Amino acid sequence: ARILFVASEVYPLLKTGGLADVSYSLPLALHGLGEDVRVLMPAYRDALAKAGELRRVAEFAVRGQIVGVLEGRLGPDGPVLWLLQHACYDHPGNPYLAPDGKPWPDSAERFALLCRAAVELAQGRANLAWSPDIVHGNDWQTGLVPALLSLEQPRPATVFTVHNLAYQGVFPYETFQGLGLPQSLWSLDGLEFHGQLSFMKGGLVYSDRITTVSPNYAREIQTAEFGCGLEGLLSRRRDRLSGIVNGIDEADWNPAADPSLAAVYDAGQLDGKAANKRAMQERFGLPVEPEIPLLCFIGRLVQQKGVDLLLQAMGPLLQNSVQLAFLGSGDPVYEQALLYWARREPQRVGVVLGYNEALAHQMEAGADMFLMPSRFEPCGLNQMYSQRYGTLPIVRAVGGLADTVVDATPEALAAGRASGFAFAEASAQSLLEAIQRGLALYRDKSAWTAVQRTGMSRDFSWRGSADHYLDLYRQCLSEH
Ligand code: ADP
Ligand code: GLC
Repeated sequence: ARILFVASEVYPLLKTGGLADVSYSLPLALHGLGEDVRVLMPAYRDALAKAGELRRVAEFAVRGQIVGVLEGRLGPDGPVLWLLQHACYDHPGNPYLAPDGKPWPDSAERFALLCRAAVELAQGRANLAWSPDIVHGNDWQTGLVPALLSLEQPRPATVFTVHNLAYQGVFPYETFQGLGLPQSLWSLDGLEFHGQLSFMKGGLVYSDRITTVSPNYAREIQTAEFGCGLEGLLSRRRDRLSGIVNGIDEADWNPAADPSLAAVYDAGQLDGKAANKRAMQERFGLPVEPEIPLLCFIGRLVQQKGVDLLLQAMGPLLQNSVQLAFLGSGDPVYEQALLYWARREPQRVGVVLGYNEALAHQMEAGADMFLMPSRFEPCGLNQMYSQRYGTLPIVRAVGGLADTVVDATPEALAAGRASGFAFAEASAQSLLEAIQRGLALYRDKSAWTAVQRTGMSRDFSWRGSADHYLDLYRQCLSEH
């Protein structure tokens, strides 16, 4: 099929989180299966700098604004990449947040333009000799695509993937008016959400199929606890909603061939992990001790990731012989709290604030355990990277974490299926209990190594999940 895949961030051009990883690796996998996928994203300044060779293939008007399409490739043998060029994307840095940490004041305009341009491309009105059978949008930034396409006839089928329901793109009614959106879309069964404009609802209400990034999250978002006020709508559309677990890019995240590592290793020959642990201890200014358990966290420092639980657990956790390393950026309150612990316990706690792709790889390789006590987690990628790198994840059993980590219960250990540790309750106490189980297993070297090997040999590739997307596309097309 011909698929137009639309996302606001795509690795390696621009990445703030897992959405970028998936918007790279899924189209790549679909391309590998012979599908004609084209990936559309805004031509942010940083993305332009990383895009390699580009040529301008189209220029068209969207509500009196001229936009351009720059064509390149996503990876040497990858799918076609289209960068949407307009002055509103010509900024360095984070595409959602201004340097003061607040959303850009013109966010709605920027992403409405992305959606409208996608519609023009989809309807073959952009002077390009290509039009899709399916438009696949991702998260709220693309939510207006299914809404606007619902007004066209004929139109391609639409698939909308929710990577994170907590970010909804909600704006005042005046924004709806300012964007000149058709009045017929303004209703409680449309884009209106408590008197405001919701981009997310555009995707959830009007798309032919809704997916989320794990089966468990697909169930959770139909409940009040995880539904962010949209649980009613989602459960009404449950026959159109499914969960497809994310894969990982097995070439980028491969401990046997990772150029960022101090030493490469694999499940058969785990020795190389020791050199990575040493390098990581040095990098974080921690004493180089091979035996002391080294636990790490990588991620956005936001409430979603359970950083507050980690901070609460810090005092009791440091009663144990452990080292902790953190990499992340986000809420200044969390950043300051982490720096406090690093200052207070410099021999035990290391913190690097900021975004550092190579360091993330080095930590996955060097740590013994990976902490991911998320309050909610649509899928999560780091717990999969961890398993691939022989680093045992300690996760809260929510969302995709529950779908991708096999808790080391006595039964799972005996059956050789255990791949990490999972706890149920969002409390420091439950987190600590899971960590204690981790520390106990760590002392039993042969049991530990067995769990490492189990995790490292699991299949987290896109093969299975890309097939699920293909099935979904086929169903959509046959009903369309
Ligand atoms: P989310 O998308 O909610 O942030 P995921 O686990 O799906 O969570 O994906 C996060 C991705 O971003 C992972 O690839 C992770 O390694 C990366 N990442 C997050 N924060 C940082 C950071 N400070 N430095 C490097 N990589 C980071
Ligand atoms: C979102 C979610 C994360 C998921 C990622 C990619 O950012 O928070 O859980 O892995 O999208 O789908």
